[in-house]
Parts: sequence; structure tokens; C-alpha cells
Amino acid sequence: MTAHPNLVLSGMQPTNVLHLGNYLGALKNWVRMQNEMPCLFCVVDLHAITQDVGYGKRDELSRATLEVAAAYIAAGIDPAKSPIFNQAQVPEHAELAWIFACVARLGWLDRMTQFKEKSGKHKERASVGLYTYPVLMAADILVYKATHVPVGEDQKQHLELARDIAQKFNNDFAAPDFFPLPEPVITGPATRVMSLRDGTKKMSKSDESDYSRINLTDDADAIAQKIRKARTDPNPLPASKKELEGRAEAENLINIYAALADETAESVITRFAGQQFSGFKNELAELAVAKLSPVASEMRRLLADPAEIERILKTGAQKARAIATPIMDEIKQLVGFVGPR
Ligand code: ADP
Ligand code: TRP
Repeated sequence: MTAHPNLVLSGMQPTNVLHLGNYLGALKNWVRMQNEMPCLFCVVDLHAITQDVGYGKRDELSRATLEVAAAYIAAGIDPAKSPIFNQAQVPEHAELAWIFACVARLGWLDRMTQFKEKSGKHKERASVGLYTYPVLMAADILVYKATHVPVGEDQKQHLELARDIAQKFNNDFAAPDFFPLPEPVITGPATRVMSLRDGTKKMSKSDESDYSRINLTDDADAIAQKIRKARTDPNPLPASKKELEGRAEAENLINIYAALADETAESVITRFAGQQFSGFKNELAELAVAKLSPVASEMRRLLADPAEIERILKTGAQKARAIATPIMDEIKQLVGFVGPR
């Protein structure tokens, strides 16, 4: 297979505010990767309408799109180096998603666990868009022939589907090396941050309890209070990673500390071994406030000038389209669509 030049693509949905899981599982890795490879970062507004859409949601969608873009920049993405754009401004995403909908098989989508979770008990009432969500995600990546996709653990299955679609397209259209098989980049000590209230549940935007998550927009008091109230067991901190087995809440807080401090979980365990959680939580709260407060205040500063964020998204979309358009032209030729070449 011919090597494709390295290109990173990732995205987040503009639904509610971003939380610590999004930051540690994805965004923090993006910031690091922009110094290693060319990157594109997308606000996936087309994905955001798979669950909530309509007149009443319009303003919320626009606001959340600007907020997510602001979070990317506040966390350290430099839009001059790594284009930031929203999906709806690059029509090639939706165009390729249709072609991929005809390449992917129903059986493949039937296996997607996120659809099962999100559609709940009433699958027949979920939107068709929610079902084909992973097909659009594959198009987001492959319309740029992106090779690396930094995401949290929960996106692994969607990435496998994107690889299957790329492979089948290459086979079906006798173009063996056309699409790269994009690699998931799932790294760091916090690839799956758990809820602060329940160590068996993922920290999520949709959890009804605000105490389950730390939002990127939380102020110092809220961060400290949520960490102090986080669930733990009565035992002190362990002396080895092995002793964390069956202690999901303890493990989660240690992983969060490690990710925020850019350390390994092992080194955090060595330092705090045998100590009580109350003291550890105070230190964790201090660390979280020190790392997250500058992001929150930079977000507030950026959001005071929405026109500037819109300008960044527009410029980003132009740069993204400049990459996507020639690839889309090649795809149309491979499929056999008649049109100007
Ligand atoms: P959510 O799952 O909260 O709705 P998104 O689906 O928009 O958030 O996820 C955006 C990115 O953040 C993805 O790369 C996803 O894997 C990552 N992510 C989301 N929740 C977590 C979590 N609890 N821990 C680690 N990464 C997460
Ligand atoms: N599905 C991803 C999530 O829920 C968001 C997403 C959409 C994405 N398109 C993408 C992530 C392309 C990486 C690459 O988090």
C-alpha cells in the first residue's frame, strides 16, 4: 500500500458544554498532536442534529457551535496552523456520507453500540440520521484522506467502521490505495473519564446530574466542590495499580490527576500511597482549577466577540474545502458520475 501523508482529523459535537472527559480524552491530545502533524479540527454540527433539531433548538445549536470552537482555541489549538471549521460549511462531508451509505452494510451499522445506547428503548422513534451517524463520521475523516484520529475510547468502534468503509470502497472501485485506513489515536491516562457520581458510567454531557461532570465553563468553586463531593470508597489510596481493581471511583480520580498533571497513574499512586482521599481530593481540586481556569477564562474572552469566531470558522472551512474538493472530484470519477472534470 502506498503511504498516505500524515493528516490528523477530529471533531466534537456542539451539544451542551464540553466537559473534563472531552478535554482529557480528546482535546488535550489534539493540542499535542498539532506540533507533530498537520491537523484539521471540526465542530460536527451535522452530527448534533441527529438527536435534537427544530425551531426551538436553533439558537442553542449556533451558540454551542461557537462555544465548542472557542473551547478548541482556548485549550491551545492555533487556528492559523490547524484549521477549525464547522461541518455544515463544507458540503463535501454530507456528499461523501451518501456515497458511503451505499458502501456500508446494514449489518455493520446494526452492531454499533452507541446507537443502541442513544436510541434507548424506542429504536423506531430514533432519527435515521442517528442510525447513519457513523457513516457521516467516516466521511468526515476520509473526505480529507486523514490518517490519524485522536478520540476517546468510546469512539473506537466508529473508527473500526470507518476503516471497513475505506477498505470496501477501495476494493469495490478497484482503487486499492485510494483511501488510507485511518488509525484511532487513543492515548493518555484518561481515555475514558468516568462520572464523578458513578464509576461505572462514562462522564457525559447528557448525564442529568451536573455533579457527575466537570464542565470546561465551571468556575473554581464549582470545580472544587464537585471534586470534594466525588464518590470514593472508604479505603485510603492504594500502593500499586493492581490494588485499584474493583475500585472504579478511586481509579478514575487517580487517572484524572495523572492526565491533568501530565504524569502516569503509577507515579501518582507512588506519591499518594496510603493517604486518605480527603487530602488527595484537595490537591486534585487545586490542580484541576489551575489547569482548567485559564481555559474557561480564555473561552469567556473569545465568546465576547462571536464575529471573530465566525470569521475563524469561515477561514477554516475555506482551507478544509481546498483539501476536500479535489479528493471529492476523484471519488466522483471512481464512482462513475458524469460531470465536469
Ligand atoms: P459526549 O460523549 O460527552 O457527548 P462527544 O460525543 O461530543 O461527547 O465526544 C467528543 C470527544 O470526547 C470524543 O473524542 C470522545 O471520545 C471524547 N469523550 C467524550 N466523553 C469522554 C469521556 N468520558 N472520557 C474520555 N473521552 C471522552
Ligand atoms: N462521533 C464523535 C463523538 O461523538 C464525533 C465525531 C464526528 C468525530 N465526526 C468525527 C470524531 C470525526 C473524530 C473524527 O465524539
